Amino acid sequence: MRKQIVAGNWKMNCDLPDTQKLITDLKTGLVKEFNCELMIAPSTPFLYNAFNSTLDSDIEVIAQNVSEQEKGAFTGETSVDMLQSIGIKTVIIGHSERRDIYGETNELIAQKVKASVNKGMRVIFCCGEHLEIRKEDKHYDLVGNQVKIALQDLTEEQMSQIVIAYEPVWAIGTGETATPEQAQEMHAHLRNELSTLFNDSIAQNTSILYGGSVKPNNAAELFAKPDVDGGLVGGASLSAESFLNIANAI
Ligand code: G3P
Repeated sequence: MRKQIVAGNWKMNCDLPDTQKLITDLKTGLVKEFNCELMIAPSTPFLYNAFNSTLDSDIEVIAQNVSEQEKGAFTGETSVDMLQSIGIKTVIIGHSERRDIYGETNELIAQKVKASVNKGMRVIFCCGEHLEIRKEDKHYDLVGNQVKIALQDLTEEQMSQIVIAYEPVWAIGTGETATPEQAQEMHAHLRNELSTLFNDSIAQNTSILYGGSVKPNNAAELFAKPDVDGGLVGGASLSAESFLNIANAI
């Protein structure tokens, strides 16, 4: 059984008081067992605070990004070693906002993935197409290429540290959620890509999350699809009730 995961990407939201309140609300809401791993990705400055606040709960604190560099004169960057030094074990890499706003290329993202898995970090690797690509029916090729460039140089053992998040860019922050069928089609395509790049076992054992306007009222239908193994949630993760209701849909 593949790991089922619901991860909250808080993006550049929540100052320290907001972070502390949201974590308190989440821990209060953890009154039952969930059938999935729960993760939250606060903004970098609050990682340590969040990590310490959740030490005794079932929520893993993860990072939203990481440098491909080992250490040194890279102002504003955070290294894998730094994240691991405060107990962070998982990092999101390749989010469309890193690609579109900050110009992260497939090649740079591949370097970040390699630098992370080489040190034992788990990676949530994000991929997804813009609407015009889908309208030109080129979305399978584009997303498949994103995955190939990022993962092709990993060993089979390192692939156990990879979680893929398919996030159609046109669904992020828009309320225009992909239909469960659209999500399933792309997830199945990505599983086939993994089978070609590696083997059937890796393809079947790699968790593939859906992200892009996941909400409490659509999560169950999305997560019911055979190749959807959970969600990477943005806006709805800023409400403990919404986030946990989404997790409850698995
Ligand atoms: O990383 C998850 C994020 O991109 C999805 O955002 O607000 O559409 O759930 P949202």
